[in-house]
Amino acid sequence: MPMAKYSSETIHKYAAPVPRYTSYPTAPHFNETVGQTRYRSWLENIKPRSEVSLYIHIPFCDRLCWFCGCHTKHILKYAPILKYLEVLYREIDLIGAIIGKNATINQLHLGGGSPSLLRPEDLEKLKIRLEKSFKFSDRAEISVELDPSDLDDNILDGLARFGMTRASIGVQDFSPDVQKAINRPQSFEDTRYVVKRLREIGINSLNIDALYGLPLQTRAGLEKTLDQVLALQPDRIAMFGYAHVPWMKKHQQMIPAKTIPGLDERFAQARLAEYFLKQNNYLQIGIDHFARAGDGLAIANEQRTMKRNFQGYTTDNSQYLIGLGASSIGQVPEGFIQNTHATASYMRQVEGGELPISRGFALSPGDKMHGAVIEQLMCYFEINAQWLDENFGAQAASIHELARELLTSNKDGYFVETKSGYKITEEGKPFARYFAAHFDAYLNLGAARHSIAV
Ligand SMILES: C[S@@+](CC[C@H](N)C(=O)[O-])C[C@H]1O[C@@H](n2cnc3c(N)ncnc32)[C@H](O)[C@@H]1O
Ligand code: SF4
Repeated sequence: MPMAKYSSETIHKYAAPVPRYTSYPTAPHFNETVGQTRYRSWLENIKPRSEVSLYIHIPFCDRLCWFCGCHTKHILKYAPILKYLEVLYREIDLIGAIIGKNATINQLHLGGGSPSLLRPEDLEKLKIRLEKSFKFSDRAEISVELDPSDLDDNILDGLARFGMTRASIGVQDFSPDVQKAINRPQSFEDTRYVVKRLREIGINSLNIDALYGLPLQTRAGLEKTLDQVLALQPDRIAMFGYAHVPWMKKHQQMIPAKTIPGLDERFAQARLAEYFLKQNNYLQIGIDHFARAGDGLAIANEQRTMKRNFQGYTTDNSQYLIGLGASSIGQVPEGFIQNTHATASYMRQVEGGELPISRGFALSPGDKMHGAVIEQLMCYFEINAQWLDENFGAQAASIHELARELLTSNKDGYFVETKSGYKITEEGKPFARYFAAHFDAYLNLGAARHSIAV
């Protein structure tokens, strides 16, 4: 399959900054109308024997990569982590006391920052505290985001005892000049060793994060990185575009704008990565993931059970996601809840016996419909008319109207009508965020600035 060609004009037209839609409405629209009382009542509504997922945020790293857009803090000592964990245990107790052991935890994700900084004895304590408050399914998936440079055999063994079943490791790019420009030295050999050990401790689902559009990155360098990534035989690859948001992440100012590939080059890098990974038998999943056939995400994509949430594409389709730790976001049928962002304030709230939330969003039936439509486009690039009408009845008319508007206005033919509804064509897929944004009723409300959409 040859690579599709796009004019510079087309690329620029569709690059308008819009959200990545890991939620709808997106986090900048969360507000203070969701407080303690409402969140508590939402948690109390969790039906007995429901499946629940947990996300735990560890907002610390022992280095600061200049490209990083995550909520994290550079620390030189371990003491802040110990203090944070003590507070996290209290938050676990608080939530556990509300939802009780009626619900079953089927997924646990440790993200950050770098949860790979946790020492084995602390992982052990965390496990004990979690099991004291929650009932885990025997088949619970436990996934952890790992920075390979944190890992040694001792930590890896600790992660195995913690019960980790899936690992996600950050690579970004292996070219030395790119690594220098993003302050992230990471050799291929060290990464290969970590992958080998992960396989030895029984991890059979391994994801690698790679990026395009990084400072000094070239197509040749990216191809070499992807060759090395393939040599590691990951089950999944997340291929993200570098989001340069220096107005939000001050350390990104360490990256001179002139070193960042222009829009046309960035787009060409994305297409090269897509072409290269597909040629090497990875299936494209949604806008930025690739997986080998047989991988859980590839199967969920095929069976249409894949979802999109704050962690990106996921096999997790439980209705309840509870976020723990500073800045974490939770999701229940009634709406979204975000924990306080600043770590010190988060800690103060928990120490005062409060649920440490700062904002949220209560979903209306209309929000749920728009959210479901956007999720379908971001996951499957289509809107099935029968699904829409059956699930949303008379309300669905407004979505049909928006779709018709798009059919008329999009002269490029990237959004088309089909026998079963509407879809983004194969050539239109790189612009999925642009088309999803057309169904976002909040897009022009509020002044949130987003990263470019391609
Ligand atoms: C929490 S980090 C991964 C774990 C670990 N801290 C590491 O760096 O290896 C999550 C991922 O987010 C992605 N990421 C971080 N900042 C980004 C940015 N500005 N634009 C796009 N992706 C970004 C990176 O690919 C990174 O691997
Ligand atoms: S990319 Fe990972 S290791 Fe680097 S600062 Fe961000 S969270 Fe920390």
